[in-house]
Amino acid sequence: MATSTYYNPVRLTFGRGSHTALPYLLQAAGGQNKLSIMLLFGTRSLKAAGHLDAIAKLLAGYRYFLQGGVPGNPDIDDILRFKKMTDDFNYNLIIAAGGGSVIDMAKALAALRPAGASSVPELREIVKENRLPESEEGVQVWALPTTAGSGSEVTPWATVWDREEKAKYSLADPRLFPQAAIVDPLLTVSLPAYMTASSALDALCHAAEAYWSKNSTFLVRLYALQAIKLITGSLQNLLADLSNEKLREKLSYASLLAGLAFSNTKTTACHSISYPLTLSYGIIHGVAASLMLGQVLEKNLPVIEERDALLEAFGVRKPAEVTEWVRAVLAQAGIPARLRDYGVREGDLPDLVDRSSTPGRMDNNPVEIDRQFLSELLSGIY
Ligand SMILES: [Fe+2]
Repeated sequence: MATSTYYNPVRLTFGRGSHTALPYLLQAAGGQNKLSIMLLFGTRSLKAAGHLDAIAKLLAGYRYFLQGGVPGNPDIDDILRFKKMTDDFNYNLIIAAGGGSVIDMAKALAALRPAGASSVPELREIVKENRLPESEEGVQVWALPTTAGSGSEVTPWATVWDREEKAKYSLADPRLFPQAAIVDPLLTVSLPAYMTASSALDALCHAAEAYWSKNSTFLVRLYALQAIKLITGSLQNLLADLSNEKLREKLSYASLLAGLAFSNTKTTACHSISYPLTLSYGIIHGVAASLMLGQVLEKNLPVIEERDALLEAFGVRKPAEVTEWVRAVLAQAGIPARLRDYGVREGDLPDLVDRSSTPGRMDNNPVEIDRQFLSELLSGIY
């Protein structure tokens, strides 16, 4: 076996009801004298499901403030807006309770806290160049994911969208690993079918892409296989029984394992091709990445190490069955599976081909993806 490395410093707490461990973790991290907290959350579900009040109660006695309203797929101007709203507050810990967008916003705010950017162009330059300022005393980020999908609770990067420039950036730095992740499947129970399916498909792509990434290692493949088995073995049952806590637990576990897998590899062609679909047509991230999973698997298959184990984890004999499975999941969740359903016109496909190669992602795919293949792929899902 060739030499390989693996690194992930996130302190993990996992299990149904585990968010109630928050006071113990806070105490261990220095307690009330040391911590000033921003509780960051999104736009809807956390409050509606009663989780926000439950988490806020656990912060009793601490200096904290609530900051809600993080939108899905935060844009560069959202980050600037939130930075300006919170810059004057005193905080050294962000507890991010939400999906990937909330956790990524927390990472961006923590990393950019010392940056003096006051305009979108200024902040854009910093983000584009991944120029994270040095700071003596860093702001910690603790993640409480409320979806089972993004894996952001265990990764060292944050996605930043830029609709004006039609671009997607990634802040990436080991300092962006959250210090702690509390993964409580009960926080995901109220997710509707389309969110449950799209986030699980995102996790499935993270696992599969980590498995075949150029940076894959034996430990990555171990995590990835288990994640794929859990998702393909449980997702359809969960979509038929959304309040099933045992199945929610399996999906949360799978998403965490997929996160641990791709935290050390980054993603590949599926994610790369998906970004313009999300940017220009609003296709939900996990759905956009999963639409071409089967085709990319087929393309990569000849060079994938331990490919039989991968197919077995998917429960298939050939990649086309993965495409069928993804379409069945989307149909079950009431999510359209064709680009034309999202307002893409056939004449738009060449532009999508041009914009499909995201640096750092496409070049991480084990097989080179050329324009011809991209054209056929996009036509195939059109
Ligand atoms: Fe993703």
